[in-house]
Amino acid sequence: MRVGILGSGLMGGKLGMIFARAGHEVIFSYARSNDKLKRLARDAKGKTRPGTPRDAAQEADALLLAVHWSRIDDVLKQAGDLSGKVIVTCSLPMDAGNTKLIIANSSSGAEEVAKKVPKARVVSAFNTVPSEVLFGVYDARRKTTRPSLVYCGDDESGKTVAAELIRDAGFDPIDAGALHIARYTEPFALLVAQLAYEGEGGPELAYRFERFGK
Ligand SMILES: NC(=O)c1ccc[n+]([C@@H]2O[C@H](COP(=O)([O-])OP(=O)(O)OC[C@H]3O[C@@H](n4cnc5c(N)ncnc54)[C@H](OP(=O)(O)O)[C@@H]3O)[C@@H](O)[C@H]2O)c1
Repeated sequence: MRVGILGSGLMGGKLGMIFARAGHEVIFSYARSNDKLKRLARDAKGKTRPGTPRDAAQEADALLLAVHWSRIDDVLKQAGDLSGKVIVTCSLPMDAGNTKLIIANSSSGAEEVAKKVPKARVVSAFNTVPSEVLFGVYDARRKTTRPSLVYCGDDESGKTVAAELIRDAGFDPIDAGALHIARYTEPFALLVAQLAYEGEGGPELAYRFERFGK
């Protein structure tokens, strides 16, 4: 499929490269420099190109939303009409210092994104995985046991698209239910990040947690 990356940083840059390696067409958009987008597209090889958020929105079948919470409104505005588009969001509703969730319990970042683009098909995925492990998971994808990755959403066809991308990235997709389940997966993502970045076991421990439920 054609995948538009809205936010080509740690998550978007790596996942875009992985989707390209898996055979998808990828448009990298939204970084502070156009040179970075060009470099990502060149390094990813495959059918990739740099573009604007609007290019990505118009041309892609699915969009990965991977920006800091403070940039959500800007990138969505630049993307323009997102009616009918599948938006897979990994963006967590973090404060400016990335220390805590500013939306939790009674809503979630994913639900707030869905309110901003009511005609899009929003799926929450990839937020429970630290970017550091993405290439390793992709490289190990043919092993019989893959790390699980939860996703949730209200639109079944959007979820089918997200599950395909999750599988192509080397994970075993676990349907956690409706979009409001992001109220539980988003805080869980902070636990995984805590283990990955500050816990002694690092990414290995994060994997174990992701597989624990299964
Ligand atoms: N990193 C993780 O392990 C991880 C894990 C789970 C969820 N998340 C969530 O995923 C989202 C993205 O995280 P990330 O770590 O990938 O962030 P990031 O590396 O900072 O990437 C954000 C992207 O937005 C771009 N950007 C920022 N300000 C911009 C501006 N004014 N104009 C144009 N582009 C701008 C950045 O440009 P530059 O490339 O030029 O910096 C970058 O490409 C966040 O919501 C985070 O909470 C991250």
